[in-house]
Amino acid sequence: MERHLDLFDKVVRLTMPQQAQAGGFYPYFVPIDSPSGPEVIIGGKPTIMLGSNNYLGLTQHPHVVAAAHRAIDRYGTGCTGSRLLNGTLTLHQELESRLAKFMGTEAALVFTTGFQVNLGVISSLVGRNDVLILDRSDHASIVDGARLAFGRTLRYPHNDMAVLERLLIEHHGKSGILIVVDGVFSMEGDIARLPEIVRLARKYGARVMVDDAHGVGVLGAGGRGTSEHFGLQDQVDLVMGTFSKSLASTGGFIAGTAEVIYFIKHSARAFLFSASIPPASAAAALAALDVIETEPERRTTLWANAHRVKAELTSMGFDTGVSETPIIPIVVGDEFRLAQFWKCVFEKGVFGNAAITPAVEPGHALLRTSYMATHEDHHLDRALTVFREAGREFGLIS
Ligand SMILES: Cc1ncc(COP(=O)(O)O)c(C=O)c1O
Repeated sequence: MERHLDLFDKVVRLTMPQQAQAGGFYPYFVPIDSPSGPEVIIGGKPTIMLGSNNYLGLTQHPHVVAAAHRAIDRYGTGCTGSRLLNGTLTLHQELESRLAKFMGTEAALVFTTGFQVNLGVISSLVGRNDVLILDRSDHASIVDGARLAFGRTLRYPHNDMAVLERLLIEHHGKSGILIVVDGVFSMEGDIARLPEIVRLARKYGARVMVDDAHGVGVLGAGGRGTSEHFGLQDQVDLVMGTFSKSLASTGGFIAGTAEVIYFIKHSARAFLFSASIPPASAAAALAALDVIETEPERRTTLWANAHRVKAELTSMGFDTGVSETPIIPIVVGDEFRLAQFWKCVFEKGVFGNAAITPAVEPGHALLRTSYMATHEDHHLDRALTVFREAGREFGLIS
């Protein structure tokens, strides 16, 4: 009898997660039973949270929480439609004006998630005759935006400006070119070489878009992100940001000139065909912007925490890769060993993120740790003690 090829065959072939679960070292979908603060409750046990992107600790800030409550009271729980049709609130417009002002651009557009920003913006701007150039370490949402775009996608090895220039020379004058780069690389915590990227882009007539998911709120004197950090705010064509990290909510935005934002608003399918961000999420992001502006000391504490941990982990002998930000990886290498290291650290009361391929290069598995303004010294003392113990047990340090 003829055997059918079953679409679901691949389902049976996925065995790695089950093996890790059976072995008791499965690091994903761990249910948390408390707010995402510096310490969380997991399985009834207090655990130090080093896996959150709540960099400024604003998810529990009274001003942010109160704004979200008020928005629910005024607008209800959801908009039940896309921005194009019935889903635009005055609150969304207020948030967009505020974001544009904050980012120093003419306009901004709010999407329902940061992931959708990259899908929608890249696929609407990069047309059939255009070329998209990505850093090989760019976030998955940029890669998926590239998959949706009709133009050709080219990649350069992480931070390799010589290859970037070669690609630009090849396509200069023949196609419209968009370079998209993470401002802060989300797993390794290093910062894009924006001055060089912008210089090359100007030289060869390319446009630059920065995904500043991990830069906004963290980098720059005013927390405006990677371009502010380098003093290049007027040189970057588009900045993408998310509300799901420093802005303590969910949603995302793109900021740029009024003309380009208007085009995106009328052509990005991930924007046009998806329900708008709920009122509470929009209000929380708006209130988080207030706090970023009025409490700059949070950023100072965040950086003090990050510098302390980076210095101590390095002096213990850990490989923390190329981190320059509050994202500090502990490089383990092998994925299986990482899962066991994750479990060891977790059982000692510290939660980090186990990052394996495709989030990192093969053979470069790492425990991604990230810090908050609301981590206090006692949290960090405890975490560092746990890392020292676990690092010795696993032979990562001597
Ligand atoms: C660099 C980067 N870009 C985009 C996103 C997507 O953002 P969101 O969580 O708002 O969908 C993330 C979040 O993981 C990210 O780290």
